[in-house]
Amino acid sequence: MQNNSNKPKLDWDTLGFSYIKTDYRFIDRFKEGQWEEGALTTDNKLHISEGSPALHYGQQCFEGMKAYRTKDGTINIFRPFENAKRMRRSCERLLMPYYPEDAFVEAVKKVVKANEEFIPPYGTGSALYIRPFMIGVGDNIGLKPAEEYLFSIFVTPVGSYFKGGLKPSNFYVSTYDRAAPKGTGAAKVGGNYAASLLPGKEAKERQFSDAVYLDPATHTKIEEVGAANFFGITQEDTFITPQSPSILNSITKRSLMWLAENRLNMEVKEGDIYIDELDRFKEAGACGTAAVVSPIGGLQVENDFHVFYSENEVGPVTRALYNELTGIQFGDIKAPEGWIETV
Ligand code: PLP
Ligand code: COI
Repeated sequence: MQNNSNKPKLDWDTLGFSYIKTDYRFIDRFKEGQWEEGALTTDNKLHISEGSPALHYGQQCFEGMKAYRTKDGTINIFRPFENAKRMRRSCERLLMPYYPEDAFVEAVKKVVKANEEFIPPYGTGSALYIRPFMIGVGDNIGLKPAEEYLFSIFVTPVGSYFKGGLKPSNFYVSTYDRAAPKGTGAAKVGGNYAASLLPGKEAKERQFSDAVYLDPATHTKIEEVGAANFFGITQEDTFITPQSPSILNSITKRSLMWLAENRLNMEVKEGDIYIDELDRFKEAGACGTAAVVSPIGGLQVENDFHVFYSENEVGPVTRALYNELTGIQFGDIKAPEGWIETV
């Protein structure tokens, strides 16, 4: 422990992706049709009714973004308004009151600033993960939306989500579905992730980083990874990523699409990626806030193991995309207008 803070002596270079308690979190309560005035608190425990719809019927949603320490000491937050907008859509899907976008971003900044000493130093490659979430609470047993809600934001310092960062790892096509065709796949709600726990465990037991899901209607096209979107680079240098109503609309994916087109002069497409046409791709990867840009070395499809670029080395396009994205996030490369909020 250091001074009066909970901050342990952290080894910034070897952080994984796990919960480390930080000093402050933001919390606000929705009661009688409106949000109260939220505030920071040091208490990381919630005290809620046993009847809370979040506990029984999964009425909850969450977000994920990161704060980065730049070379000159500024704190950069990557595209938080996009997370605010996506959380609003998740709330609407689950009949929850959304948190207004400006208030969302202001609260994010407050929590980041209050926990400033937990932001990993520039140069370590690690960042401060920001987790906003909302839960339906209150005495309830019938299947109906809650009348009261908690909105909270906590932060925790993180390193790589998939072991090895830019080192390729292998993934496995699951026979399970993550989300139904017209279900909640596009919303960032806990139920989707609960459904992915068993397939994710199967993948890890077989030494794969995570499961890749196929489209739930025909099982012929790649949807996404358990905790990230999927992209491929074709032999002709086109960046392709799946288009589906049942995947999460990744902010990292949309950022990579823009960077591929505008900074790397590539063709960019959202479209179908058929699982029996993997030879089209010279590189493939998983992308997301936690995953950043993680090269996919090989993909196990039933009894076939398909290697993209290499099982050991990242391909040049994936590396270039990673460098552009992280360069912007850590403040080394000029960001497109509106991508960075500073604290
Ligand atoms: N897909 C899933 C299922 C995810 O959990 C995430 C992580 O947030 C993503 C994709 C990537 O989304 P983003 O880039 O907005 O973090
Ligand atoms: C994120 O990347 O922010 C996510 O929410 C993925 C999560 C499973 C850690």
